[in-house]
Amino acid sequence: MTDNKHQKPPAEPFINWSRVPRNYVWAAIILASFSMVPLSIVYAHRNLNWRQPRPSVIPDMDNQYRWNPQQYNPDFADGRVMRNWPDGTVPVGMLNEDDHYHRGIIGDKFATDFPDQIMISEDLIERGQDRYNIYCAVCHGESGYGDGLVEKRASALMLSGKHRGMSWVTPLSYHSDELRQRPVGHIFNTITNGIRTMPSYRSQIPVQDRWAIVAYVRTLQLSQWTEVTSVDEEYRDGLIKQIEAGRAAAPAPAETQTEPGGDGTDTTGNGDAAAADVQPDEATQTEADGGNA
Ligand code: HEC
Repeated sequence: MTDNKHQKPPAEPFINWSRVPRNYVWAAIILASFSMVPLSIVYAHRNLNWRQPRPSVIPDMDNQYRWNPQQYNPDFADGRVMRNWPDGTVPVGMLNEDDHYHRGIIGDKFATDFPDQIMISEDLIERGQDRYNIYCAVCHGESGYGDGLVEKRASALMLSGKHRGMSWVTPLSYHSDELRQRPVGHIFNTITNGIRTMPSYRSQIPVQDRWAIVAYVRTLQLSQWTEVTSVDEEYRDGLIKQIEAGRAAAPAPAETQTEPGGDGTDTTGNGDAAAADVQPDEATQTEADGGNA
């Protein structure tokens, strides 16, 4: 068997190059090279940066002279291409003259009630809850005790000593006398401009949603601090039993247990006065530094 195989004559190659005329070979090589030209032009125009616009067979109005932002423009005396709004004009949709709605202030005081544009409804509060859980709960916690995940992690880092020189201010709990007495306009302003170390959420949260969040913060505060008589009668007995069971189980005195966020004593002195004293421009002043953090 194997012998037979060895004795077969060597097969003719598919192309016998020695018989192909040289000119044909060269012509083929040159043609093949030129066929790459269109491909490489397409490749170059797709992938390289050109100072000139791409060649366009039918240009229409594809490429026109224009100014880029921040460019120098000799047509104006100050040479700036970006112009200020002409005096006394307001861009469409940016009038925002309703101080109560857009800034949470009436005159020079923070508004103590919601503006007319805001209808307090279940939908609004649910929207507020949704936005609150996205933007605020990370720091302030879902119930507003200032114990969100970011706070837990940051505090753990501070305690571990691995914070590499960073500092962390614990977000305030909403459940203190001081914060319960904050006017709604003040909370609105806190979201808009930030306050002390808390950053501004003006650019992330539209005005309508900020009011929805304010309504939800109020809801959270009410949920943790209210008289039992304000609860519907059908739920009242159940609630009282629940509270008493909780007190029986807790080792600490019952009085201070009801207000986990604050100090439990009802001082109408300092806390309230401080809240009422804060004026809008004073607050925004201090917040301006923290706002860009
Ligand atoms: C990055 C963490 C962080 C986030 C997110 C955050 N806050 Fe705060 N917030 C703070 C800190 C910190 C303070 C306390 C600031 C201080 O005292 O320096 C604070 C304070 C407050 C206060 C009390 C201010 C006062 O004295 O009246 C309110 C109200 C408040 N935040 C509401 C909100 C709302 C509403 C949101 C969501 C839109 C929010 N915060 C998101 C960190 C945060």
